[in-house]
Amino acid sequence: MQHYLKFQSVSKVFPGVKALDSISFEVNAGSVHGLLGENGAGKSTLLKILSGAYIPTSGEVEIDGKVRRFHGTKDAIDAGIAVIYQELNLVPDMTVEENLLLGHMPLRHGLIDKKTMTQVAREALASLSGEINPKSRIRTLSIGQRQLVEIAKALIRDAKVIAFDEPTSSLSDREVQKLFSVIKDLQGRGRAILYVSHRLEEVFQICDSITVFRDGRIVKSFDDMSALTNDILIRNMVGREIKDIYDYRERPHGERLLEVKDLTGPGLTAPASFEVSKGEILGFFGLVGAGRTELMKLVFGAEKPVQGTVSIAGKVMDASNIGSSIRNGLVLCPEDRKLEGIIPISSVSDNINLSVRRLFSRFGFFINRGKEAANTDKFIEKLSIKTPSSAQLLMNLSGGNQQKVILARWLSEDIRVIILDEPTRGIDVGTKSEIYQIMYSLAESGMCVVFVSSELPEILGVADRILVMRSGKIVGSLSRNEATEEKVLKLALPVSGNV
Ligand SMILES: Nc1ncnc2c1ncn2[C@@H]1O[C@H](COP(=O)(O)OP(=O)(O)OP(=O)(O)O)[C@@H](O)[C@H]1O
Ligand SMILES: [Mg+2]
Repeated sequence: MQHYLKFQSVSKVFPGVKALDSISFEVNAGSVHGLLGENGAGKSTLLKILSGAYIPTSGEVEIDGKVRRFHGTKDAIDAGIAVIYQELNLVPDMTVEENLLLGHMPLRHGLIDKKTMTQVAREALASLSGEINPKSRIRTLSIGQRQLVEIAKALIRDAKVIAFDEPTSSLSDREVQKLFSVIKDLQGRGRAILYVSHRLEEVFQICDSITVFRDGRIVKSFDDMSALTNDILIRNMVGREIKDIYDYRERPHGERLLEVKDLTGPGLTAPASFEVSKGEILGFFGLVGAGRTELMKLVFGAEKPVQGTVSIAGKVMDASNIGSSIRNGLVLCPEDRKLEGIIPISSVSDNINLSVRRLFSRFGFFINRGKEAANTDKFIEKLSIKTPSSAQLLMNLSGGNQQKVILARWLSEDIRVIILDEPTRGIDVGTKSEIYQIMYSLAESGMCVVFVSSELPEILGVADRILVMRSGKIVGSLSRNEATEEKVLKLALPVSGNV
C-alpha cells in the first residue's frame, strides 16, 4: 500500500532540548494514525514541523512519495496539509464564512464575491454538521463548533493530510462523538489522519495504527490494534508498569471545614449547598456546561454571588473577594489555565512562585530567591516537570508541562481548601497518577480537596464522595461506595429517567 505521509529521520533541536530525535514513520491514505507519549515527548513539535511552523533541524517530510520542504505554513497548506491545534486559530469577531475563506476569498470584478463565499461555506459546513450558520460570529460558537469550522476550512482547501492535536480536551461527550464521525468520514474519503491524544480509550476507538513517543524518540509503532491493550500502551508511554493509576487511599475525615450555603449567581439555576470535611476529597461530575466551573468561581469569589454564603471553619468569607478567600486558605486552580493562569514570557520558576498570596502580602516585593529556587526544584521533581532548567520560559514548555507548572503554583500555597477544576486535562497517564497521589497527601494532611472532572473513571477512582450537576444545579450526591458509572451518568444526563 502507498504511504501517503512519511516522516524520514526527522529531528528538531531547541537550545538545551532535543525535542525530536530521528523520527521515522508512515501514515497511509484512508487511515487514522495515533500519536501517543508523555508530556514533552515531542508530539506537538512534530505537528508543527508538518504544518510548516517549525523547520526540522534534519530529516524530511514526504507527501505522496515526494519530499517536501516547507518554509512556512503557507507552503504546507499548499501541499495539502491541515493541522488543527488545540488553541484554534480562528478570528473570534469575524463570521464563520469569513474565517473559512480567509486568504482564499472568492473575487468577482475585484470585489469579494459574497454569494459564492456563503455558498462554499454552506456546502463545507453541511457535510460536517447542519447546525452551524455561516453568518454566525465565531465568538458565539462552542469549542466543538469552532473545531468543526477548522475542519471545514481543511475541506475547502481540500487537505489530504489532517492532523489533530488533542482535539477533544474541551469537548462534551456529544461533540466528541460528532468529531469521531467526521474523522471516520474523512478517513472514508482517503485522507491521511494523524491523531494526538492522552485519552487511551479514544485512541482505541478511532485509530488504525499507533506510534508511541518518549523523550523525542519512537518507542514503538503498532500496526495491529487487536493485539494492543491499555497496559501495553501505558508501559510503552511511561516506561514502567502502572498497576492502578488511581491507587485510592482511604483516610479518616475530620470536622467540617468548607461550607457553601444557598449560593446563587451566574450560571446556576438553583441555590447550591454543600459541605466538605477535613481530609475529604469531593468530586464534582457533570457534562460540559452543567455549571461546575461557574459554581467553583462563585465559591472562590472570582464571580459575584447573588446570594448565599461560603464559610471556612465557620467563618463567613467576603463575597466576590478573591483576596479574602486566599488569605483564608481557599484557592481555585482554574480550568482554563492557558488563559487565566500562565505568564508565557516569564520563567518556570517565576510562574511557580508568583503566588497570589505573595501579591496580597504586605511585604510581597521582598522576594526570597533561595526559598523560591528550592520550591521550584521541589516541584520540578515532584510533578516531573520536563524543562531544561527552571529559567526556561514557560511558553517553550509542552502543553502538559505548562499545566503542571500552574498546579505547582497552587500547591506552593499555604492552603486549607483547594479547588481543582479539571486538574488532569492534557496531562499524561504517568503524571496523572502522580497528581492523584498528591491529592491524597493533601487530604491526609487535613485539607479539603474539591475537584471537578469530566472524566468519569477519574471521579469514580479518586473521590470519596461525588456531587453531580446538571443544567446549573446540584442534582445528586453519591458516596464512593454507592457510586457506579451508571448511577452517576443517569444523574448527569439531561434526558428523562432522572430522579
Ligand atoms: N519553541 C521551543 N523552544 C524550546 N523548547 C521547546 C520549544 N517547543 C517545544 N520545546 C520543547 O520540546 C519538547 C517537546 O515538546 P512538545 O510540545 O512537542 O511535547 P508534547 O509531546 O506535545 O507534550 P504535551 O503532551 O505536554 O503537549 C519539550 O521538552 C519542550 O519543552
Ligand atoms: Mg503537545
